[in-house]
Amino acid sequence: MTSSGDAAAGKLCDNAVQYTSSVTPMQAQVIKPEEHFITEEPYYESIGDEIAVFSAAYRQKLPVLLKGPTGCGKTRFMEHMAWRLHRPLITVSCHDDLTASDLVGRFLVKGGETVWIDGPLARSVRSGSICYLDEIVEARKDTMVVIHPLADDRRVLPIEKLGELIEANEDFCLAISYNPGYQSVLKDLKQSTRQRFIALEFNYPAPDLEATIILKETGLPREMASKLVKFASMTRNLKGSGLDEGASTRLLVHAAKLITADIAPVTACHTAIAAALTDDAEMIAAINELSGSLF
Ligand SMILES: Nc1ncnc2c1ncn2[C@@H]1O[C@H](COP(=O)(O)OP(=O)(O)OP(=O)(O)O)[C@@H](O)[C@H]1O
Ligand SMILES: [Mg+2]
Repeated sequence: MTSSGDAAAGKLCDNAVQYTSSVTPMQAQVIKPEEHFITEEPYYESIGDEIAVFSAAYRQKLPVLLKGPTGCGKTRFMEHMAWRLHRPLITVSCHDDLTASDLVGRFLVKGGETVWIDGPLARSVRSGSICYLDEIVEARKDTMVVIHPLADDRRVLPIEKLGELIEANEDFCLAISYNPGYQSVLKDLKQSTRQRFIALEFNYPAPDLEATIILKETGLPREMASKLVKFASMTRNLKGSGLDEGASTRLLVHAAKLITADIAPVTACHTAIAAALTDDAEMIAAINELSGSLF
């Protein structure tokens, strides 16, 4: 890479910092929404009218469901929207042990006294933050129903243990995400949940745009970035013929980062993409052949 390329990479790589941290239940006691403002613009390349639609949904107090394959920009979009709307972003990664108390709050004994500690959802509702429940289908079914009264026009969160019904702050916004297709029927979103949300569909960006994302995220020159995108589309064509999913934009960014750190493109594609996608030795060899034909 040329020295001017290096300079561009350095500048652009600043954009790749992690903008927010997720909230885990153990941290529930220390959630401070003011610490969850995103002050620097997260780099996000718009793929359609999602920014306008999300902004309108926010103004109209409608909750939003982001769906799309892994690594296609959903989390980055949320970070970008939180920055755009000047709201703190409180992210919860859902998992099958996540209880309603983890979201809403619980009593804790502190210094001999029993005190109520708001969970991330209650904190968001009171403070007017954006609460982003990532991978919502991973959460237990009984956990999911706590969002129902918040996600319809009541916009309230009942806290049974306090006997309280909190009305959502004007600025509160609920967003959830999921990857359709990976779940079993058991883990699909219930109609009563999904029919409360505006649904924004995400997918891999068009080739030129995806190359731009790689370039801006890593500083990899466009010509090489375009080759990676071409390689990605070859792996995406293998979906259903031995691969569950093709290379995501995230994996392309990983490969590009290795290449800009002087790893040979074929090795970068093997380690960041082929071996990350599957454990099947034959499939890995087939994917390596594809990258070998390009690089
Ligand atoms: N539209 C985009 N603009 C900028 N960067 C993007 C975009 N789409 C993908 N990326 C890049 O891809 C990476 C992965 O995106 P992100 O973490 O948002 O995926 P995701 O859809 O949330 O995936 P998952 O469902 O696995 O959580 C980002 O860190 C970023 O580098
Ligand atoms: Mg994500």
